Amino acid sequence: MNPTEQHDTTVVVTGAASGIGAATAEHLAGLGHHVVVADRRANPAEEVARELTSRGHRSSAAKCDVADARSVDALFARVAEELPPLVGLVNNAGVGNLKPLEAYTPSEVDLIWSVNVSGTYNCLRSAAPLLRRNEGAVVNVASVSAVHPTRGEAPYSAAKAAVVALTASAALEWAPEVRVNCVSPGFIRTPLNDLLATNEEWLEGIRERTPAGRLGTPRDVAETVAFLLSDASAYVTGQNLVIDGGSALTNAQMDPLFTELLG
Ligand code: NAI
Repeated sequence: MNPTEQHDTTVVVTGAASGIGAATAEHLAGLGHHVVVADRRANPAEEVARELTSRGHRSSAAKCDVADARSVDALFARVAEELPPLVGLVNNAGVGNLKPLEAYTPSEVDLIWSVNVSGTYNCLRSAAPLLRRNEGAVVNVASVSAVHPTRGEAPYSAAKAAVVALTASAALEWAPEVRVNCVSPGFIRTPLNDLLATNEEWLEGIRERTPAGRLGTPRDVAETVAFLLSDASAYVTGQNLVIDGGSALTNAQMDPLFTELLG
């Protein structure tokens, strides 16, 4: 894809009013797609779309709660009627929390499940006919917690593991017309983890445990998402690509000891 060329294509990014979604929307708009900045929060979504438009990109905002199937259906009906062909969907909207497993209330668990899993499912179902028609591609945003859970994120880890499985199922059912992949970010600095960002010592600890030697940025994820949506990954489907600077590679039981023995 020639980055300077304007394409007559649409990509929908959910949860695009903030963090990883906003960076992904910006990057994909820069590649020439009309980007729909879809988010539960209308005002910040409009701000992101306005900013992209002011820089000469094509973008529009859509208020959409991915956990509500009717809201999602309305979004894709509008895309079908008003916008260029849908060739990409980024299921990025997500919520998490941090507390002991038994301290989560049923409604907190429901929210985490309904946004991360049902939200992804709702968008896949509604977008399916458009993506099939246009031979599009999907990227779901899971988390490294899906495969390497941390303490305190039980419902989130389980929900993101479900997103990884959903990715494989959709890839199988929709091949060869539509490719469906998934990314699993490690720690990426966004408003989602503002709490951690207030403590420089904690951030330094994260840096030390990351072989890449730095924190991840929303742009790191955006670049990988763009690759998985593009023809450069034409033979890749059903995969979960971890974007964590190598942090999940460590064998925490033995690696610190071996590191010491190596001098
Ligand atoms: P963020 O909190 O900055 O942005 C999330 C966006 O999703 C917000 O704009 C929010 O309004 C929107 N959203 C929430 N519920 C929604 C709903 N029901 N319908 C539509 N939009 C909704 O978070 P961030 O960090 O940019 O996260 C994006 C994705 O990346 C999420 O799926 C998250 O779980 C995942 N992720 C983030 C990591 C990180 O370190 N920041 C690590 C691993 C995964």
